[in-house]
This record gives sequence, C-alpha cells and structure tokens, in this order.
Amino acid sequence: MTVRKDTLLAHLGRDSARYQGAVNTPVVRASTILSASVAEFEAAHSRRFTAPFYGRYGTATTRALEEAVAALEGGYRAIAVPSGLAAINASLLAFLEPGDHLLMVDTAYGPARRFCNEVLAKQGVLTTFYDPSIGAGIELLMRPETRVVYCETPGSLTFEMQDVPAIAEVAHRRGAVVLADNTWGTPYHFASFTHGVDVSIHAATKYIAGHSDAMLGLIVVNEAHWLTVRETVAAYAYSVSPDDCFLGLRGLRTLGVRLKQHQASALKVAQWLAGRPEIARVAFPALPGDPGHAIWKRDFTGACGLFAMELKPVSKAAADAFIDALDFFGIGASWGGFESLAVPVHAVRTATTHQPAGPMIRLHIGLEDADDLIADLETGFAALHLVAAR
Ligand SMILES: Cc1ncc(COP(=O)(O)O)c(C=O)c1O
Repeated sequence: MTVRKDTLLAHLGRDSARYQGAVNTPVVRASTILSASVAEFEAAHSRRFTAPFYGRYGTATTRALEEAVAALEGGYRAIAVPSGLAAINASLLAFLEPGDHLLMVDTAYGPARRFCNEVLAKQGVLTTFYDPSIGAGIELLMRPETRVVYCETPGSLTFEMQDVPAIAEVAHRRGAVVLADNTWGTPYHFASFTHGVDVSIHAATKYIAGHSDAMLGLIVVNEAHWLTVRETVAAYAYSVSPDDCFLGLRGLRTLGVRLKQHQASALKVAQWLAGRPEIARVAFPALPGDPGHAIWKRDFTGACGLFAMELKPVSKAAADAFIDALDFFGIGASWGGFESLAVPVHAVRTATTHQPAGPMIRLHIGLEDADDLIADLETGFAALHLVAAR
C-alpha cells in the first residue's frame, strides 16, 4: 500500500507505546545518557549516530524528527543541525577539501554565497558561480577537481527554477556530489532523491517548524553519503536542543495543511498583483507564464507562500513606503511561519545580471485571509503613490 504524505505526516516519528501512551514523542533532555554496563556503553558509542549515546549527538526527540523527515523525503537518513545555514555549511564542509572546485548556483541564499567566498576560499576551495538556467550546460563548467554542484531551486529571492535532474546527470557522470537547498520545496513538495539530489538541505526554521519560534536545520542524505555528512556534523559539534527538535516535529504534523493554504493564498495574491498597474512582473514559479513554471510543474507537487514582486520603475523611498504601510505583513528576515512578511530584495549576482524594472519586494503569504492581505497591499500601493507623487 502506498501511504500518502499527509498520512505520513500524522504518523512518522512517534511511538506512543514507548512513552506511556503519549501521542507525541516527548522532549528528552539529556547530556549524559547512562548505560548499564561497559559493554552496553561501548555498543552505544558505536551506534552514536543512530541511537542515544550522548546529548551532543541528539536524544530520542532528535532521532524521531530525523527519522520522520528522512522517510517523508525518501532519503536514507536525516541529520538535525542548529540552523538552515549550519545545514548548508556542514554539507559543503563534508565534501570539500583544499584544491577542490565547487559549482555554486548564482541565486543561492546570500549567507551561503558568503560562506563560499569568505570561508571556503581561505581553505583553498575554488567556487565558480553558475547561471541557474544552465541545465545540462553545466558540463562546460565541470573540471576534473569539481567535487560539488550546489543547487537552490527556486532561488529564494528572485525565484529562478533549476533543471535539477539535468544538472545531476552531468554532475554524477563527472564524479561530483549534488547538494540542493530544498527549503522552498520542502520534503512535502519536492522529492529530492528521485530528481538526482544526494544531499537535501532544509532551513527547517521555515515551513517545517512553521511558527517563527525555532532555529533548526535538517540535512537529508542518501545512503552513499550519509556517513560523510554525519561525521562532519559530529566533528564540528553541531548540536540542536531537543526542544527545537520537538518544535520541528510538532510543525511537521500540520505541514501539509499549512502548505496547501499558503499555496492557495499565495496564488490568489500573486494573480491579483500581476493585474496591478504598478507591477512589472511577479516572480512565482507556480504562476502560469513564469519562466520557471514548466519545470515547477514537472518536478514539484506544489508551491509554498514565498514569491517576489517586481515594481515598475519607482524610487526606493516609494517602494519602502509600500512596505511600511502594510499592517498584516511584518518586516523581518525568514519566512515559512504562519504570518505574512515583506522585505526589499537585494540580490547579489556575479555569474548573471539581475536588472529588475524597479525595486523588488519579497512577500511571504501567511495564513491570514487572502482578501485581507489583498486589502492591505492595496493600502501599500496608496502609500507608494503618495511618495511617488512628491
Ligand atoms: C533558502 C534558505 N536557505 C537557508 C536559510 C538559512 O536558514 P536559517 O535562517 O535557519 O539559518 C534561509 C534563511 O532565510 C533561506 O531562505
């Protein structure tokens, strides 16, 4: 019987028989975990990455979250780390050594880009940024020492889709490992491992935790590369609190219903924005007409609530006035919580050019009523016009 993802979300990562009938896996707080004998202690050490041994490697709460997310995405195992950026950094560090070459998508999350330029560069790793639309053309950039090809689809500021299967086919043929930031797709909407990804990276801070109250990263890995990543995470001593893992597990239970609502509202708002005279373009792969729509439809089972709007030429002051006037959209980093957010887009590009018609604004469409959000955005446009007319 094929069990569908919504059913998995309700049942993965919990075992009430182990916890006196409690529906949820409890928060197991521990540094020391005692063994009954030396033999048991030594056996526990040899299983430290999969069973409780010492708090730094995680407790039963950590394992429950890891097992649930790995099964949901179809990976071999998952590893919880303290943030999405830690998931990115640890995954890169696991595979790259001095003299290696990394192919990094030009539209990657900004701090990931900085990690390549500022940390990996000092360690003798050369990064080449590549155009997200490159597809199989990535072959031309591959070198004998290319060890990692890194994808983020869509880019989380400007929303360009990538042809991951085409890129992965080339990377694997040339002996490179494929890493992908799947935060936007989530394990619910993008099956990384059937699209050629070896290591799937999640800022679980976003939709998995889902309530803007936890920092959490998850690395889901295939069998061939699991131990390499697990040992790197252990060597750098990345460790997550069981409380945050509990929040990740709690978030998972409603991931499916939340994503359905985020997608429906985001589509409604995006379609409304696309018809506004102030808008040059809405960058959202789920919208028919978006340059990435065909790939999104082919590879993803749905969308989330994050997209960007490109204004027609207008001053920064007018664009800022638009954001400042919004009541239901908070101004702040991150996304994927239950609430709506709006931030200006400042995209750094070196392999491609990013020349929007006017200022770009990234919106996260939360779980508020979509019509209320549209009314709020209307107020924003009124404020924009007031400043533009000055
Ligand atoms: C696409 C993407 N990846 C990774 C991260 C980093 O996640 P965290 O904030 O949990 O470190 C973010 C954060 O905004 C993100 O948008």
